[in-house]
Amino acid sequence: MFFCGTGIAAVETVRFFFPRVVFHPPTTFKIGPPGGFVSGSVPDTYGVILVDPRWKRDNKFFVVRAEDRIYAIYARCTHLGCMVNWFEGEKTYRCPCHGSEFHSNGVNFAGPAPRPLDRLKIFLDVDDQLVVDTGTIYTVKHFDDKNAFVAV
Ligand code: FES
Repeated sequence: MFFCGTGIAAVETVRFFFPRVVFHPPTTFKIGPPGGFVSGSVPDTYGVILVDPRWKRDNKFFVVRAEDRIYAIYARCTHLGCMVNWFEGEKTYRCPCHGSEFHSNGVNFAGPAPRPLDRLKIFLDVDDQLVVDTGTIYTVKHFDDKNAFVAV
């Protein structure tokens, strides 16, 4: 009995020094000023000038510069959630799981995906830097909402 109590005390002492803390990864990412997303090329059929995939691998989003706005596309396929890839040559996002394909603006056109790729909150901070918040998602009905894009 004494031995058991000592063991519990030892465990509690260890727990004291290693408290249970849940670490949440950051959801906001500074991606630079709007002027950094200019390619000089003409818009494609979907009004997209540039798709920037720099944040796809680590943060799961693409930054899109369109004619009149900048928005962030969530790289999660709207079928079952696999990560889509951007193919610059074909100006298409493609899902490796079941073959869904999306135009440069994220609108689905092939495969089982039921709707366009979602978008993420984007806004300008006090330093005029674009910030993407992966914690807030906009579905297609809300693409024109405040903070679903930044006008340029
Ligand atoms: S998860 Fe993308 S097509 Fe199924």
